[in-house]
Amino acid sequence: MAVEATAPGKMILFGEHSVVYKGPAVVLAIDRRAKVVADKRDDKRIYIDAEDLGFSGYFEEDIYYPVTGKAWRGRNLAALNIAAKKTMGHLGVDSGLSLMVRSMIPIAVGLGSSAAVCVATVAAVSELFEGGLTREKVSELSFEGEKVIHGMPSGVDNNVATFGGVMRYERGAGFERFKLEKVPHFVIGNTRRKRSTRMMVEGVKELRDRNTSVVDAIIDAISAVSKDGFDALMKGDGPRTGELMNINHGLLSALGVSTSELDTLVYAARREGALGAKLTGAGGGGCMIALVEEACLGVVEKTIRRYRGQSIRVDPTDEGVVARRL
Ligand code: MEV
Repeated sequence: MAVEATAPGKMILFGEHSVVYKGPAVVLAIDRRAKVVADKRDDKRIYIDAEDLGFSGYFEEDIYYPVTGKAWRGRNLAALNIAAKKTMGHLGVDSGLSLMVRSMIPIAVGLGSSAAVCVATVAAVSELFEGGLTREKVSELSFEGEKVIHGMPSGVDNNVATFGGVMRYERGAGFERFKLEKVPHFVIGNTRRKRSTRMMVEGVKELRDRNTSVVDAIIDAISAVSKDGFDALMKGDGPRTGELMNINHGLLSALGVSTSELDTLVYAARREGALGAKLTGAGGGGCMIALVEEACLGVVEKTIRRYRGQSIRVDPTDEGVVARRL
């Protein structure tokens, strides 16, 4: 009997990139989800059908054989292969699998699609073999897949995709989850330019290697913004939260991860009354987010579309990964 698991995407409100080194990130799970349907196979192949993302293929002895689509997605598919195999290894089973992946989260634009897919894969495979894994273990095993895609990820994406909700995450220290009294409104603006988180994280590392004390000062400043931003968010103080988002965007620009397209959407949203706007995720393309009062939602969405962005209205969600038998 096949198993279906779904996990949410995310938006980082404060602290992307700095969280790879130190300090907290503030992150919210969003109501856009990735789905993985897992079933057993009689052979030892791991088939991955991600047709709506444009590719499918199978792994045999860890070698990827594309069936449709381009092999450049191989790294993302390799992450699923690793996540699935680590899960089976942990459970002491050795089986072929077919994994059908479908996602409502735009890929490679900073909204956590790869983590959501890895987490859903681990949860689906665990349930398929009645593994009864804890959520902590699901997150831990999916992190093995994330490492294949992102190199040295902080762990923020797999944790929020597993547990959902509003999270303050710090590498090494783990996370705390919170409930918001007043749920704010966000509009996401997608530049539609795909980029690799791994390359963006590596770019910041290289910048830091060349300018260590300067980049460390920026990372310290972002950590301070994240701490204050978290407090402002919890108090429901929209103007202060927005102001700190704006500061965070400036500091991310200083790290070289903004683009003219992101800046255009960020400034357009602010001009139309957003309380704050910043890029979200790894940058280099991808998405920005605007914190917007209800009355301004329509105009902010319109201005994002006017500047050729895709506007996506999202709500935070408390629902983390969920698995069920079909
Ligand atoms: C990616 O969603 C967020 C980054 O901070 C990388 C990471 O935390 O692993 C850019």
